[in-house]
Amino acid sequence: MRIGFLLVVVLGVVAVAAGTLGTLLSEWDAPPLEATQTGFRGLAMEQVSNPRTDAKMDALNQAPEPIYELEGDDDTKAWQVYENVPVLGHISQEAFDRLMAAITEWVAPEEEGCLYCHNEENLASDEVYTKGVARRMLQMTWHINRNWDNHVGATGVTCYTCHRGEPVPSEVWHENPGPPQARGMAASRAGQNLGSASVGVTSLPYDPFSSMLAGDAEIRVIPETALPVSIEIGTKQTEVTYGLMMHFSTALGVNCTTCHNSRSFFAWDQSPPQRTTAWHGIRMVREVNNRYIEPLHTVFPPERLGPLGDTLKTNCATCHHGQPKPLGGAPMVADYPSLRGPAQDPEMQPEEEPEAQ
Ligand code: HEC
Ligand code: HEC
Ligand code: HEC
Ligand code: HEC
Repeated sequence: MRIGFLLVVVLGVVAVAAGTLGTLLSEWDAPPLEATQTGFRGLAMEQVSNPRTDAKMDALNQAPEPIYELEGDDDTKAWQVYENVPVLGHISQEAFDRLMAAITEWVAPEEEGCLYCHNEENLASDEVYTKGVARRMLQMTWHINRNWDNHVGATGVTCYTCHRGEPVPSEVWHENPGPPQARGMAASRAGQNLGSASVGVTSLPYDPFSSMLAGDAEIRVIPETALPVSIEIGTKQTEVTYGLMMHFSTALGVNCTTCHNSRSFFAWDQSPPQRTTAWHGIRMVREVNNRYIEPLHTVFPPERLGPLGDTLKTNCATCHHGQPKPLGGAPMVADYPSLRGPAQDPEMQPEEEPEAQ
C-alpha cells in the first residue's frame, strides 16, 4: 500500500519534471545565437536572434511571384464590359481579369477556384456570400494601403499578406469564453493561468485582444509619479497590457527591446522608432476590426464565427506571422497597383473616411 503510494508520488514527480523540461526545451534555442547591439552599451539594447530560426521563417514567408505581367496597352475599363462592378469598375479590364486570377490564388481553395465567390452560370450575380465579403476586403485593403502608410509604408499589403492561400487566415482571434470553470471562489480566473499561446505561453490573461485590439483600452500602466495617486489602473489592466506585449513579441519574432529601452518601458523619447510604428499599428488593427471585419458578422455563416458569435478578427500575427516585416518586407502591392485604390477615391464614401492617426 505504502510502496504503491510512493511509486505514484515518484512517477508524478518524474512526469512533472519531464513536462517542465519539455516546455523549457520547446522555448529554448540552442547556441550559437547572434546578438546585434542597437543602442547604448549596458542598457540591454540588443537583439538576440537565432540564424537557423530566421532562415526557417524566411523560407516559410516567401511572397508568391506575380501571376503574369500586364501588357498595359488596353484602355477598356472594367465597367464598360462587366455588369456589376461597383468597386473595381474604374480599373482596366486587363487589370481586373488579372486581379481576379490573383485573388483566386491568394484566397480561394484550389479545388473551387473562381466558384468560391461566383455562380458558374452568372459571374455578375451576388448570391455567393464570399463575393460580398471580398468586396469589403478590397475596400479594406485600399484603406490600409492609402491611409495607414505610417504603418505599412511603401511595402503595403495584399490579400496574401493575411490570407496566405487560405479562405480564413490562420492567425485570427475571437472573443474567448475560456474553458468551463468551477463555481465559487475558483470561478474568477480573470482569463488567467492557462499558459496560453496567445500570450507567449505565459499565464497572463489569454484574451488581451478584445479590450485592446477591438476596444480602445489605454495601454498605459506605469505611473508617472513616485507614489500612486490614483487607482484607475489596476493589476488586471497591467496584466492584460503585458499579455498584449507578449503577443507583440511573438507575432513579430522580436524581443521587447525592439520597441523599448528596458530602463524605462514608458519613455517615448528613449524608445526605438519601431515603437511609434507599432503605435500606429495598434490603431490600424482596431480600425480594421471595428470598421471592416466585425460589421460583416451578419454576412458570415455561423461556422465562420467564433463561439460567442463575433467574427474572426485581426491581430499583429495575422500579417506578421512571426517576422518583423510581413513576408520579409516584400513589396507585393507594387505589382498590383489596383490594390492601392482609385486615385480620386469616388467609391469610398469619403465623408466616412476617418482621419488616420
Ligand atoms: C475571393 C472572391 C473572388 C474570387 C475567388 C473570384 N472573384 Fe470574380 N469577382 C469578385 C468580386 C468581389 C467581384 C465584383 C467586383 C466589384 O464589385 O467591382 C467580381 C466580379 C467578377 C467579374 C465581373 C462580372 C460582371 O459582369 O459583373 C468577372 C468577369 C469575374 N469576377 C471573374 C472571375 C474569374 C474568372 C475568377 C477566377 C479566376 C474570379 N472572378 C474569382 C470576387 C471574386
Ligand atoms: C488584414 C487582414 C486581411 C486582409 C488584408 C484581407 N483579408 Fe480577407 N479576411 C480576413 C479575416 C480575418 C477573415 C475571416 C473573418 C471571419 O471568418 O469571421 C477574412 C475573410 C475573407 C473571406 C471569407 C472567407 C470565407 O470562407 O468565409 C474572403 C472571401 C476574403 N477574406 C477575401 C479577401 C480578399 C479578396 C482580400 C484582398 C482584396 C482580403 N480578403 C484581404 C482578413 C484579411
Ligand atoms: C512591436 C513593438 C513592441 C514590442 C515588441 C513590445 N512593446 Fe511594449 N509597447 C509598445 C507600444 C507601441 C506601447 C504603447 C501603446 C499605446 O500607448 O497605445 C507599449 C507599451 C508598453 C507598456 C506600458 C507603458 C506605459 O506607458 O505604461 C509596457 C509596460 C510595455 N509596453 C512592456 C513591454 C514588454 C515587457 C515587452 C516584451 C515582452 C514589450 N513591451 C514589447 C510596443 C511594443
Ligand atoms: C495589415 C497587415 C499588418 C498588421 C495587421 C500589422 N502590421 Fe506591422 N507592418 C506591416 C507591414 C506591411 C510592415 C512593413 C512596413 C515597411 O516596410 O515600412 C509592418 C511593419 C511593422 C513594424 C516595423 C518593423 C521594422 O523592422 O521596421 C512594427 C514594429 C510593426 N509592424 C508592429 C506591428 C504591431 C505591434 C502590430 C499589431 C498591433 C502590427 N504591426 C500589425 C503590416 C501589418
